[in-house]
Amino acid sequence: MPSRHDHEHTHDHEQDERQDAAEAAELEREARRLIALSRIRQYGDPALRMKAREVEDFDDDLLRLVERMTTLMHEAQGVGLAATQVGVLRRLFVYVDEDEDRVLLNPAIVTSSMETAAEDEGCLSLRGVLVPVERHIKVTLEGLDERGAAVRTEIEGPTARVVQHELDHLDGVLIIDRTDDESRRGALATLRPQPVLGAAAPR
Ligand code: NI
Repeated sequence: MPSRHDHEHTHDHEQDERQDAAEAAELEREARRLIALSRIRQYGDPALRMKAREVEDFDDDLLRLVERMTTLMHEAQGVGLAATQVGVLRRLFVYVDEDEDRVLLNPAIVTSSMETAAEDEGCLSLRGVLVPVERHIKVTLEGLDERGAAVRTEIEGPTARVVQHELDHLDGVLIIDRTDDESRRGALATLRPQPVLGAAAPR
């Protein structure tokens, strides 16, 4: 019969293994996030400043693009991703609304609340940047789904902020364009490429 000590030892061992497994899962999640970010256009990439064109072809390529963008958004741990962020200059974005994956093509805001709110916003294309941006708290969007059917959706709360952010991407507009001067200066300092130590050493 195992002693009390042995029993505790076994228990601790199982706990350690569970903890190791949780840490391994977290490391993998972080690795996936970094790989996903490397596949998303980053600040300085001209695609982020271009105006996207309307989607016209509702074919298998489009369905594959939507699927790829949705996977990338989740792996990057984001809640929205616009086509321009993957270098596709077409008017569509994916986003998460109440745990559901959504897509909107050729979107337009048809009504927006008078009321606005300023809150910190980040962007998968501007790593390390968080700046206050004023947005309508409620918007109604019209557009198409991935099969070309008309969609009209009323959105409020955090998701209203997300869709306004993604719609901006389709016009080449970024959060640093919509924040105050001081926050923009701070963001640009963060985004400036860091010099590699020793690279500028005198000869
Ligand atoms: Ni963004």
